[in-house]
Amino acid sequence: MRVGWLALAATVTGMLGLAVASGAEPASDLPPGPGHDVTARVCLECHSADVVTRRRLSPADWKDMVDVMVNHGAKADDKQKAEIVDYLSRTLPPVATPDKNTPAPPAR
Ligand code: HEC
Repeated sequence: MRVGWLALAATVTGMLGLAVASGAEPASDLPPGPGHDVTARVCLECHSADVVTRRRLSPADWKDMVDVMVNHGAKADDKQKAEIVDYLSRTLPPVATPDKNTPAPPAR
């Protein structure tokens, strides 16, 4: 079955790409973990992973973001949305950015 082989080849290529991306270079794909697959399937339909990964949000803000994307046309039911929000909240939490009143930590 030709289509099957193509799909398998694409999967293997994708896995290799992910393995390479998790090396020294900043990952250009979504980080691995539970919920990765559904997130990749739903969220990479329109844009690349780095559009998603350059955002670091709280769970509430990820939920809003996923709702916005669903309004854009992302196809996810409530269960999938919950899995995606959970995944994104876990893998892309807000980065603690020092506010301007906090002195920068001493250089090492
Ligand atoms: C139907 C197409 C589509 C799908 C599917 C989609 N997006 Fe988007 N996304 C867009 C468009 C268009 C933009 C840029 C315009 C905008 O920000 O409104 C965008 C931008 C983004 C941004 C950057 C927004 C910003 O303000 O920096 C993030 C983060 C994002 N998407 C996350 C997701 C996540 C998470 C999913 C999966 C739930 C997803 N997207 C699925 C269309 C989509």
